[in-house]
Amino acid sequence: MKDTLAALGLADVSSGVFAGEWLDAPGGGEIVSVQPSTGLPLGRVLAASDADYDAAVDAAVRAFERWRVVPAPRRGELVRAIADALRRDKAALGKLVSLETGKILAEGEGEVQEMIDVADFAVGLSRQLYGNAMHSERPDHRMFEQWHPLGPVGVISAFNFPVAVWAWNALIAAVCGDTVVWKPSEETPLTAVAVTRLANDVCRRAGHPPLFSLAVGGADLGARMANDARLPLVSATGSCRMGRAVGEAVARRMGRSLLELGGNNAVIVLDDADLDLAVRAVLFGAVGTAGQRCTSTRRLLVQRGVAAELTARLVAAYGKVVVGDPLSRETLMGPLIHARAVEGMMAALDAARRQGGEVLTGGTRVDRPGFFVTPAIVRAQAAMPIVKEETFAPILYVIQVESLAEAIAVQNDVRQGLSSAVFTRDLRAAEAFLAATGSDCGIANVNLGTSGAEIGGAFGGEKDTGGGRESGSDAWKAYMRRQTVTINHGADLPLAQGVRFGD
Ligand code: UN1
Repeated sequence: MKDTLAALGLADVSSGVFAGEWLDAPGGGEIVSVQPSTGLPLGRVLAASDADYDAAVDAAVRAFERWRVVPAPRRGELVRAIADALRRDKAALGKLVSLETGKILAEGEGEVQEMIDVADFAVGLSRQLYGNAMHSERPDHRMFEQWHPLGPVGVISAFNFPVAVWAWNALIAAVCGDTVVWKPSEETPLTAVAVTRLANDVCRRAGHPPLFSLAVGGADLGARMANDARLPLVSATGSCRMGRAVGEAVARRMGRSLLELGGNNAVIVLDDADLDLAVRAVLFGAVGTAGQRCTSTRRLLVQRGVAAELTARLVAAYGKVVVGDPLSRETLMGPLIHARAVEGMMAALDAARRQGGEVLTGGTRVDRPGFFVTPAIVRAQAAMPIVKEETFAPILYVIQVESLAEAIAVQNDVRQGLSSAVFTRDLRAAEAFLAATGSDCGIANVNLGTSGAEIGGAFGGEKDTGGGRESGSDAWKAYMRRQTVTINHGADLPLAQGVRFGD
């Protein structure tokens, strides 16, 4: 453990503020990073005071002045070098993610792979920041749009994807010509320090200014970022409550926010589904990452004809899930992030029981140090209020439905709108699910689960999920400012819409 930390440049007490350089003694107090699988300290990080935060933003503003004039393909070369460094450190960083979040090693390494993937995507993007050219209605006029760098981007990230979500934002922002100010989750400051060190070391070696400021801190720091007019864009990942506060504050100052908030994702399984696929997908979606993904499967809407069989197969599969040390290769589920998460899971299960749900398996605390639970399956009804809430824990509510139409109605009848899936062999059913009257989520899958999206698509969802889109497709546009240009290369001044004015 000490070796992993040392290999990534972490000391017993690390600075949590990078403001063009590492601050020696940030004044915001000490944050202890607790290892969820033991409940013991993993390391300590000094958080940012208000003045330290200001220094971090100032550094990002200064770096932006220089970075925005670097041609985009050259900016891509820097991101390629960051991808190389991530490949070099993948094992150590993946292990640190696993130690600090409690996710299993395969998922810790998968998260670093997600950073590498998005870096590669961003490199390609650096030559494809295309604007449209339009035909002007006026003679001898040319119209087009161009995309300019936006400025320093604020990134607020959550504990569950402590580094991949930074990469989605920071590496795309970097090729767009922006710099970054990052406030990671207080639960995962060590991974943030390690990644900030890696990325800025690459900047230094390449002769560029350090683009990636870091300010470790709590909710008050997030509120400062939301209100900080020096950050034209604030990208926030986390709870709906946090996102609403950030979105409102950013809107008040006419800034731009990019929100990727909670989900309450359902898998619909129809009578004709391939149940082998469905069992595996639901298991990964509901138990993977201990149910702590925003894309985790929380509700299983199963058609009556296969409800009994699918439920029995899932209960059997849950019985084989090894809960334990996330570093052991046999383990499928590590601990929850902290004791409060365990309490939250137990409270949700109590509410489910009171509301008429029946716990079919799991849902207990595991008697060992750390924050371990067993994953739970609850037989539930759509009308139970608890099934409309996102509890960040491995609870799967199984709800029987009669038809696809009922399943879609139940699926959409929640405030969140992130990810969704249907299992069917029927083309018509699949297309109905994907139609305008089907799933209302930002992500809709056929014959695969709700979680584990690739980086190439735009990631995010509707309603209380916040509406933002990050990572692939044209999500880069949020990180740039669009300028519509019209050039008159004639000797006349015709007005648009044929307006005549004084002639
Ligand atoms: C999150 O939980 O905040 O699609 C992000 C997935 C991952 C990202 C999840 N690629 O599950």
